[in-house]
Amino acid sequence: MIGRLNHVAVVVPDLGAAAAKYRNLLGAEVHHPHDLPEHGVTVIFVTLDNTKLELMTPLGDNSPIAKFLADHPQGGMHHICFEVPDLAHAARTLVAGGARILGDGEPRTGAHGLPVLFLHPKDFDGTLIELEEVKPELQPG
Ligand code: CO
Repeated sequence: MIGRLNHVAVVVPDLGAAAAKYRNLLGAEVHHPHDLPEHGVTVIFVTLDNTKLELMTPLGDNSPIAKFLADHPQGGMHHICFEVPDLAHAARTLVAGGARILGDGEPRTGAHGLPVLFLHPKDFDGTLIELEEVKPELQPG
């Protein structure tokens, strides 16, 4: 069902410091920060050959990652995102198999403007999984 690893999201306490480390120490292609107020985060994308990283820090008073950062003040891995060709089909299959979808169970628009769902980390060995609908014709390469 799942296809490519679309991204790994990492919560960081200091976005500028994290970006500098990825750029200067790890030699990665680091992009400019983007405020995503509707998601309560500021993100910096790091492009790798085979996937990307999203460095995220809270934006605003009701950020969904504020508690994560409070619990993990040094930051940490937040979620991994897999691509699926048909999100509604994936959701039906997962729910039928006993997995729980976070929120009201309906897809919402993710950070890339595409429909996403999040799966309950308790159903996936403590890992928060995001599924993003990427139509096969939109997939690069
Ligand atoms: Co994500």
